[in-house]
Amino acid sequence: MDQRAKYLLIVSVTEDWAIGKDGCMLVRNPDDLRRFKTLTTGHTVIMGRRTLESLPGGRPLPNRANIVLTRSLDAEGAGYQIARGLKEAKGLVAPAEDEVFVIGGETVYRSLLPCVDECLVTLHHVERPDADTWFPNLDAIDGWTLAEREPGGTTPDGTPFEYLTYVRE
Ligand SMILES: NC(=O)c1ccc[n+]([C@@H]2O[C@H](COP(=O)([O-])OP(=O)(O)OC[C@H]3O[C@@H](n4cnc5c(N)ncnc54)[C@H](OP(=O)(O)O)[C@@H]3O)[C@@H](O)[C@H]2O)c1
Repeated sequence: MDQRAKYLLIVSVTEDWAIGKDGCMLVRNPDDLRRFKTLTTGHTVIMGRRTLESLPGGRPLPNRANIVLTRSLDAEGAGYQIARGLKEAKGLVAPAEDEVFVIGGETVYRSLLPCVDECLVTLHHVERPDADTWFPNLDAIDGWTLAEREPGGTTPDGTPFEYLTYVRE
């Protein structure tokens, strides 16, 4: 099992910690997508089967080692490997990898949160009570502290956002 890599979780949330609806993200934020690409390119990403299906064309992310958690898919597809659980996923991480990103969705975030070192949260200043998937409120969970808060900007539809970094206390 790979022991050296740092495990980071990266997520885009609203003020009420909503992350998705009907298999889609909630807020269109091209700046955040560019930052996500910059941070994750060249590294390993771990995602759930439903998040894979939500990507354009249902295809894995290019220029990254994609690991998909699933109990229902029988075989790996083009550009990704499958794992039946966290232990198997960790075993697929290349020994030379230094950063592994947990990229969602809700089920995977909740089960892998105890195993990550840091959470990179893009906080959008809007509420979405109509969402159907949610991230745990890190301000209400023991063991996590807000270490950094950087201004992000404003999305094309006028929603202000910030980049937050939570670390283990
Ligand atoms: N805002 C964001 O940053 C962000 C990021 C990513 C996704 N999302 C959103 O999140 C939503 C999807 O979340 P979700 O919770 O429905 O789905 P998900 O976490 O993407 O995928 C769930 C599936 O992953 C597999 N899985 C999860 N944990 C597993 C484990 N420990 N071992 C083996 N397989 C495991 C299972 O697949 P099988 O059913 O095949 O067994 C499960 O049905 C979408 O709306 C998406 O747009 C938001």
